[in-house]
Amino acid sequence: MRDSHLDDYFTFLRFPSISTDSSYKEKVAECAHWLVEKLKRLGLETQLISTAGHPIVWAKNKHQSGRKTVMIYGHYDVQPPDPLELWDSPPFDPVLKNGYVYARGATDNKGQILAHILGIEESLTENGDLPVNLHLIVEGEEEIGSGSLPGFLKEHRSSLGCDIVVVSDTGMVARNTPTLSYGLRGVTACEVKVTGAKMDLHSGVFGGAVANPITALARLLATLHDDNGQVAIEGFYDDVKPLEEWEREAWRKLPIDADKEFLSETGAPALFGEKDFTTLERIWARPTAEINGIGGGYQGPGTKTVIASHAMAKLTFRLVPNQDGDKILKLAHKHLEKHLPPGVTMEITDGHSGPWYITDPHSAYGKAAQKALREAFGKDVALIREGGSIPIVSQFRDILGAETLLLGLALPDCRAHSPNENFPLENLENGIKMNKAILREIGGK
Ligand code: BES
Ligand code: MN
Repeated sequence: MRDSHLDDYFTFLRFPSISTDSSYKEKVAECAHWLVEKLKRLGLETQLISTAGHPIVWAKNKHQSGRKTVMIYGHYDVQPPDPLELWDSPPFDPVLKNGYVYARGATDNKGQILAHILGIEESLTENGDLPVNLHLIVEGEEEIGSGSLPGFLKEHRSSLGCDIVVVSDTGMVARNTPTLSYGLRGVTACEVKVTGAKMDLHSGVFGGAVANPITALARLLATLHDDNGQVAIEGFYDDVKPLEEWEREAWRKLPIDADKEFLSETGAPALFGEKDFTTLERIWARPTAEINGIGGGYQGPGTKTVIASHAMAKLTFRLVPNQDGDKILKLAHKHLEKHLPPGVTMEITDGHSGPWYITDPHSAYGKAAQKALREAFGKDVALIREGGSIPIVSQFRDILGAETLLLGLALPDCRAHSPNENFPLENLENGIKMNKAILREIGGK
């Protein structure tokens, strides 16, 4: 790989572009500016689009009539690196060890979007042009729900017209196994606050006389699932489309032992989930209810005999075809209200949400993607769905009328969102090849 590619990668990774923390706003903007300068140097017409949140980077080549138009989408924002003490090297000071680069964003999504940018760079130096009309959109709010992007897509709908969208922000089932994802789960969120007394109370003086909000919350949250790992919210599964038999069969034949790999990757003592479904089916095609955070009461050293005045929990629901996020939130509200133990009050605040996505991996573009992946990796392509969410993908369909090809480069042990996130240079290299191949396939050259 060219030295300049590695320089670009490391420079990109050094920006702490943490979108969720407003104290990093300037750093996020600096990262966007660096991208703009990089893309301008490639000869692309590039703009920095300011938004109410973080800026969007929009670059295009000179469009010519009679050519296909491809939009490549990715994000330059990253998740917070916490907990810092679990990193072997500082998250924004990338290091190369045994062929792997370690840094926050190494995989999600800086390594993956940079593979496309470097592929474009190589094509432009080699051929002076691309085989397609290109829109490159790199946003800074993916990790916080892409709040500004739909407005941008609507405002520029006519200029952003495209035949297909290409995204590398999903996973590969294993190292060296090129993977085309044809589905994503959706996600919707809410926060629950349970309140008892108007202040914290002495648990000797008041314990037994008033409800404890932490106990009430624990009891309430315990009603979300039954003993078989199913979500117990009434109507939760009503709109779930059953798995297709061809999918179940194809997933059984994938060249991975998912249970073994999940056990070793997570270090969990056992796998657990909805009965009657395999691990991959549970992740890719079944909805979930997750408690992502919980808090209340004394958390310091030692003991404190106190009844806290309130307790809170953060919940998300992963959604699958054909569930509707708003409907699921309504059902969740109803469930929580019905099961709230006596003696406390509850407030529910809804958070961001994004729909699921599913597309046909055997369409003409799907076939082009499979061909490009096979060419880049020299291996047969795995067709999968994903458990994660990229909320904007369904909007590409709704607003621009374009389907999305998900050609992810993330490995199962990449540690996205966790300490020691990493990406092998091999994937950066193959990603560059894949970018060239997919543009060639779509351009018909
Ligand atoms: N790259 C991920 C999405 C992803 C992860 C897709 C794994 C497939 C497999 C993306 O950056 C992400 O983390 N999305 C969030 C979206 C949320 C913040 C709305 C997610 O899935 O939690
Ligand atoms: Mn992510």
